[in-house]
Amino acid sequence: MKILETERLLLRRLVPEDLDALYTLYSDPIVRRYFPEGTLTLEETREELEWFLNGHPRHPELGLWAAILKETGQFIGRCGLLPWSIDDQFEIEIAYMLGKEYWGQGLASEAAQGIARYAHEQLGLTRLICLIDHDNAASIRVATKTGMTFEKEGFDDKGPYVLYSMEIP
Ligand SMILES: CC(C)(COP(=O)(O)OP(=O)(O)OC[C@H]1O[C@@H](n2cnc3c(N)ncnc32)[C@H](O)[C@@H]1OP(=O)(O)O)[C@@H](O)C(=O)NCCC(=O)NCCS
Repeated sequence: MKILETERLLLRRLVPEDLDALYTLYSDPIVRRYFPEGTLTLEETREELEWFLNGHPRHPELGLWAAILKETGQFIGRCGLLPWSIDDQFEIEIAYMLGKEYWGQGLASEAAQGIARYAHEQLGLTRLICLIDHDNAASIRVATKTGMTFEKEGFDDKGPYVLYSMEIP
């Protein structure tokens, strides 16, 4: 099921057949460098995939989606919208992760901007955040290019993070 399109990307619901491609992404230590839990096993990847098959179970309009390069039909990463409770606030995060061979072409920024537009126009959301490792400069840049600014630092069970946010009028 299609969620949204940008110039070069199609974002659609994850399907069971995405397991191998998702595992390639999640088992790559370079891609997972800024994720405290590190790489995932095939079984952990399967569990996450199954959790998101119909959107986020408690918020089906949100979730992680497959990012497909329209030109080739290839699965190049996963992006989406994730719900969190932070400092007793309900927050929605734009999430993005691409295979490293696709980095540096503006694709994550294109995805994040498309997701922000979708969140506003289709879901009526007025505030979005990104939770980022302090050292993840590429991700901070993507958040900034999407219109976010630094709001605060925080700490959760996975460790410290910086929170970038944007209000959509
Ligand atoms: C973060 C990530 C999605 C970026 O993907 P991408 O497609 O390369 O991003 P874009 O090309 O759209 O933009 C990246 C920007 O960061 C900049 N950048 C990249 N590496 C950088 C670094 N080490 N220091 C500073 N800026 C950097 C790029 O120059 C670019 O900015 P520009 O357009 O002004 O030149 C990708 O690196 C990734 O999947 N990382 C692993 C997963 C991850 O960390 N996700 C974020 C979790 S919060």
